[in-house]
Amino acid sequence: MKGVILAGGLGTRMQPLTKITNKHLLPIYDKPMVYYPIQTLVNAGIEDILLVTGGNNAGDFLRLLGNGKKEFGLKHINYTYQEGEGGIAEALDLAEYFADGESICVMLGDNIIEKNIKKAVDDFKAQGSGAKVMLKEVHDPERFGVAEVGGDNIVSIEEKPQAPKSNLAVIGIYMYDTKVFDIIKTLEPSKRGELEITDVNNAYIKAGTLTYEILDGWWTDAGTFPSLLKASNLVAETGANKL
Ligand code: G1P
Repeated sequence: MKGVILAGGLGTRMQPLTKITNKHLLPIYDKPMVYYPIQTLVNAGIEDILLVTGGNNAGDFLRLLGNGKKEFGLKHINYTYQEGEGGIAEALDLAEYFADGESICVMLGDNIIEKNIKKAVDDFKAQGSGAKVMLKEVHDPERFGVAEVGGDNIVSIEEKPQAPKSNLAVIGIYMYDTKVFDIIKTLEPSKRGELEITDVNNAYIKAGTLTYEILDGWWTDAGTFPSLLKASNLVAETGANKL
């Protein structure tokens, strides 16, 4: 299984911090944000990683991470470039060539978790096809994709619902088989003008091939001012993923 980290976008919700750098290069306690998702994938046994970036500061990722050897013990890191801000699913479409028929574990570059997801990754490998998402109970579900769960299945996922059907957020770690790229090509832009990852996940629900696991340990995004601060505090207090 290969890994994809999505670290593009213009970070418009975080001006002026993102005026001169990419959101994913901002500090989370003592490391740049993008270190955390890379380490999460490496800890799960995924060592063939593509970083999708964009905007004006793409070259800074190369300067920071190089081939990933020193910080992460990788042989190399693959990079690609997203033009504009077409959404998570559009960014993911750029990984088709890299995936080359293998399944992928996708992680959003602004998501930070406490513990290891190796078990979920191994479970998805055993599942063989389809997709898997990770859920976490939150107190502010209207900020996220929200899953309605019935028994062992997810019934539906709604993106940033005004009246959430549960408090289970779909976190920014997704596992897909190679069909994901066919699904992305059928998507239409949402109201915010983006190709939504939630629409990809709903296509797998429709096909009856989406499984889920509840994440162990804390999770936060770091894409708003309060969550950026929260992420730094969580990392300072408990550490994250052996970083
Ligand atoms: C994105 C996804 C959302 C998910 C969240 C996790 O939201 O669209 O479904 O719950 O990441 O961080 P965005 O950061 O684009 O608002």
